Amino acid sequence: MESPNGAGSNGPPSFDLEKLKKDSDGSMSGMATGLFNQVVQGNPYFAAGGGLMILGSGLALARSGVIRLSGLLYRQLLVDMEIPSKDKSYLWFLEWMAKHPHRSSRHLSVETNFIQHDNGAVSTKFSLVPGPGNHLIRYKGAFMLIKRERSGKMIDMTNGAPFETVTLTTLYKDRLLFRDLLSDAKNLAVKAKDGKTVIFTSWGPEWRPFGQPKAKRLLPSVILDKGIKNHILNDVKEFLQNGKWYFDRGIPYRRGYLLYGPPGSGKTSFIQALAGELDYNICIMNLSEANLTDDRLNHLMNNIPERSILLLEDVDAAFNKRSQSAEKGFQSGVTFSGLLNALDGVASSEETITFMTTNHPEVLDPALMRPGRVDYKAYIGNASPFQVGEMFMKFYPDGDKYCDLFVQRATALNVQISTAQLQGLFVFNKDDPQAALDMVETLKSPNHVF
Ligand SMILES: Nc1ncnc2c1ncn2[C@@H]1O[C@H](COP(=O)(O)OP(=O)(O)O)[C@@H](O)[C@H]1O
Ligand SMILES: [Mg+2]
Repeated sequence: MESPNGAGSNGPPSFDLEKLKKDSDGSMSGMATGLFNQVVQGNPYFAAGGGLMILGSGLALARSGVIRLSGLLYRQLLVDMEIPSKDKSYLWFLEWMAKHPHRSSRHLSVETNFIQHDNGAVSTKFSLVPGPGNHLIRYKGAFMLIKRERSGKMIDMTNGAPFETVTLTTLYKDRLLFRDLLSDAKNLAVKAKDGKTVIFTSWGPEWRPFGQPKAKRLLPSVILDKGIKNHILNDVKEFLQNGKWYFDRGIPYRRGYLLYGPPGSGKTSFIQALAGELDYNICIMNLSEANLTDDRLNHLMNNIPERSILLLEDVDAAFNKRSQSAEKGFQSGVTFSGLLNALDGVASSEETITFMTTNHPEVLDPALMRPGRVDYKAYIGNASPFQVGEMFMKFYPDGDKYCDLFVQRATALNVQISTAQLQGLFVFNKDDPQAALDMVETLKSPNHVF
């Protein structure tokens, strides 16, 4: 098995000096070449190692070449667009993509919105949007790679949410599609709002739309006592037409309205209908919310989305706290002075319309009634005979012959009836005015369950 150059030899490589001399004509360079040939070609270790080395470096070269080439191609042939989460189009884009039919995404992420209603109930809405990760979509024949990623550990201090970006990559030739895509996404968002009212609720220190925009509530669907609706509507319209007057005189361009009265009389519904009528959105803030602080209220009131009415529900909550905190110790919530400061501090280049509602006007501090805080107040009470008749006719347009009798009987009960109660009775007896008439007695108990 011992052979000088043979395969399987375990000893050090040996050289055939005689052969070397013979092949090289005795010159030094010739000898070196011969030596090299013997060592490299004649020796299996070197031959194999050298081959591998050449192969390896070749591959490495090729690899870096490919990387460089792809980098070059990437720069030359691909374009990307980045949408940071702070940008308005960010949510539009996610919504658009959730609805886009040609996409492959396995990572979905859920966006949950919730709202707390006056009665304490919480409703929740989920929407599925593309989650962090890579997604591929096809848009107008072009492929686009979408990458949604969190930016490290950075957190948006204003809302505690991680910063995110969405990066869209496509071929250079399709770069103009980005603009189309963004305007499609925007149009989708705008169309969803067309003829609708967007309801914003507070989410930490910022306003976020609650669920999908809602169909506008029509003003005629809210029945208030004679003349009230028109009086308020005209006042708001006049305010909106007089921006220049305010600016010329250096007066903050804002107006506050207070609607007070028993629950279920249509205060909230009227404000929503008014927003729809004026084509405004609405920002709802409940002052009785436990984790609302003065700072947050102030911040929110100074950062209202454009064309929005600010609706502060249960303003009396800010006034209760003072007496409660004396007896019950510290309670988080808005203080009276916090509310006044926030109202006074609202400085916006746009108009600010604030509506406040309360069921307990008696606990409000007179300091709230100063111009600039509350400029207009209206009592929205329980149903008057006029409202009972109007409500009846709204639900039973063909029921005129029962209407007068219904109003008579309801009035004869001699109790306070809220419009919400009437609605309950009429909804229970859909299309049956006779049945509603027969059940008029149920209006005696405000909490009657049908
Ligand atoms: N004046 C009214 N006209 C029409 N619907 C009313 C009226 N008052 C109450 N409702 C109905 O009763 C419910 C509660 O009304 P809401 O506006 O929340 O009352 P409030 O804010 O005064 O407590 C709503 O479903 C609304 O449609
Ligand atoms: Mg209300």
